Amino acid sequence: MAETIKVNSPNVVYTPEYIEAKYTYHTTQVACDSGCYVVTPRSTEFVFRTERRVPRLGVMLVGWGGNNGSTVTASVIANYLGLTWPTKEGMKEANYLGSLMQSSVVSLGTGEEGDVYVPFRNLLPMVHPNDIVFDGWDISSMDLASAMERACVLDWGLQQQLKPHMAAMRPRPSIYRPDFIAANQFDRADNVLTGTAAQQHDEKEISPSTLFAVASILEGCPYINGSPQNTFVPGLVELAIRHDVPLAGDDFKSGQTKLKSVLVDYLISAGLKPVSIVSYNHLGNNDGKNLSSTKQFNSKEISKSSVVNDMVSSNRIMFRPGEHPDHCIVIKYVPYVGDSKRAMDEYTSEIMMGGHNTIVIHNTCEDSLLASPLILDLVILAELCTRIKLRAIGTNEEFEPFHPVLSILAYLCKAPMVPQGAPVVNALFSQRACIENIMKACLGLQPQNNMQLEHKML
Ligand code: NAI
Repeated sequence: MAETIKVNSPNVVYTPEYIEAKYTYHTTQVACDSGCYVVTPRSTEFVFRTERRVPRLGVMLVGWGGNNGSTVTASVIANYLGLTWPTKEGMKEANYLGSLMQSSVVSLGTGEEGDVYVPFRNLLPMVHPNDIVFDGWDISSMDLASAMERACVLDWGLQQQLKPHMAAMRPRPSIYRPDFIAANQFDRADNVLTGTAAQQHDEKEISPSTLFAVASILEGCPYINGSPQNTFVPGLVELAIRHDVPLAGDDFKSGQTKLKSVLVDYLISAGLKPVSIVSYNHLGNNDGKNLSSTKQFNSKEISKSSVVNDMVSSNRIMFRPGEHPDHCIVIKYVPYVGDSKRAMDEYTSEIMMGGHNTIVIHNTCEDSLLASPLILDLVILAELCTRIKLRAIGTNEEFEPFHPVLSILAYLCKAPMVPQGAPVVNALFSQRACIENIMKACLGLQPQNNMQLEHKML
């Protein structure tokens, strides 16, 4: 399989610094006139400019010593070293399954033997996860080797090989505000900063994660919120816009919500009417322990519950304005299951002539092994977005970056943040198509239209 892509078109120019692509962006404007929709196709000419030089990427994780922080660090080292380890099912080798960029493919076009697929990561120059350098903060002082052991995620044989590489990694001390974390986390808070100028006025409503985000913006460094909490308060978003620093979030879309954003899209686009969606989780990792506190659970419940809204409101045949399926989310802490989270969902839909269709799903999976590849995709895509600029031909001579609120990363977030006034899209494959089509636009290529007309005529 070829590793590089070169577009053969007068609209695409490769210089040593940039890939510049002219791209016609097609949209459709709809107006309602005397009971009739008047539909007007429109097109705008853009130039996309992508910087080709891939920098070294450092990632600083807030909560580095947690399950996700230790697992993603360990997994990158294991991949970098090409580690293998024995299990009762045979030898396993390090990989990046679950990463959109590293393990999924996109169709490039048609070759002599049919469709040609390439790894997503090959579309544009981007950082390889093996080259990422990790650092970070944690209120727990535990070194990363011990934190990996505490997390109980990776196989023992792999942990033994990784320990020498992680024992010297120690999280930096962090800001601890008991109001913003469950009381049951108190006993791990032994690595805490005291009395810094950020806390001078000790405003009670400012969370540690918001302080980290402010610091990141002031350093000119993109900030991604993989947690459910309300880090991105309005003033913070304004600050990011003023400093032109990308933000993305909230809350990793790793398991149950990801499936929900596929299943509800399927039901509604098939003309079946979901009327009740009930999701139970139980998990036994430290995140589960933290979520067993009511305040922390409430923020998770909010970020999990908005995921069907756009799909429901798009279909006025099934849902009257304001009508909504019942949607209930339950999370319980069960220490014994550890990181191996259980998610049980029941989707009930109304079907033709008063019938019902009930789908029940049971999902067991290591939580941190789903979240870790998402963390890699998020940071790699956020970095790529800082190297892409575009301008509309005829209206704007200056190249501009994307809006600092990076809604292009919505695929990876449970509650995607979008620029004010922009529509929120939750449907998983629309979110994936957004990433794929923008990356293809950077190469002057049109979106996959799936029409296959060449096979539909005699
Ligand atoms: P964890 O509880 O194992 O790790 C969080 C770490 O943050 C802990 O080591 C804790 O000591 C540290 N911490 C707490 N307050 C801190 C502060 N003020 N400064 C620095 N460190 C602090 O949780 P895990 O599993 O690593 O998840 C991390 C976040 O990702 C959680 O908010 C979780 O809800 C979110 N998430 C996880 C998913 C998954 O694992 N599949 C999916 C979606 C979101």
